[in-house]
Amino acid sequence: GKEGSRQIAIDGPAGSGKSTVAKKVAERLGIFYLDTGAMYRALAYKAVKNKVPLTDEELVSRLAYETDIYFSKERGVWCDGEDVTQAIRTPEVSRAVSLVASYPGVRKRLVELQQAEAERRSIVMDGRDIGTHVLPQAGLKIFLTAEPEVRARRRWQELKSSGKEASLAEVVRDLEERDRQDRNRVASPLRAAPDAVILDTTRLDIEETVARILDMARGGLR
Ligand code: DC
Repeated sequence: GKEGSRQIAIDGPAGSGKSTVAKKVAERLGIFYLDTGAMYRALAYKAVKNKVPLTDEELVSRLAYETDIYFSKERGVWCDGEDVTQAIRTPEVSRAVSLVASYPGVRKRLVELQQAEAERRSIVMDGRDIGTHVLPQAGLKIFLTAEPEVRARRRWQELKSSGKEASLAEVVRDLEERDRQDRNRVASPLRAAPDAVILDTTRLDIEETVARILDMARGGLR
């Protein structure tokens, strides 16, 4: 990024609290926040909506280049001029997104867009491969983890509070399946960068997690 600009990478599995934490860290530091998972979700949403066969790697990859994806904390997630902020959070999109995100062509395109955002401003980005691939030069890299049951319960709570019915068992199953796919894919699998700080949030609440990251950010941030 530009001289003096800050980059904070926050990675981890689903339900580790990444996006909530990353958003708050960005707010406190007064810098931009980018939810990269929302970008993969927007593309998965479009593929499902247009009935593009998800197993057709070439078609899905081409779709990535033909899709206009926009994210901001204030305006939400937009796909080709449509507000998809709510639509990308359904279990259907959650089940589709890991396959879509496994294609190198898709990742190439979305990573380009993500890196362009970081060129222009200081940023907190959350995802799976931010510390390893998107912002390898980030001044601070955090890898959030938590026990699977705790992560599933958080996701379930999230769904419930947004009025969506799902059984806890279903959420546990979906989350484990998604983790498995995200960790085992060939292109940029979910992994902590060697220089990432690993933070287990099983027994930390949001505010405690945010406070720890802010301490690190204010300490030695480049
Ligand atoms: O963080 P999330 O649950 O909204 O992410 C949705 C999916 O997108 C996740 O299953 C994996 C994928 N993803 C990715 O491959 N790389 C990223 N940087 C962010 C998300």
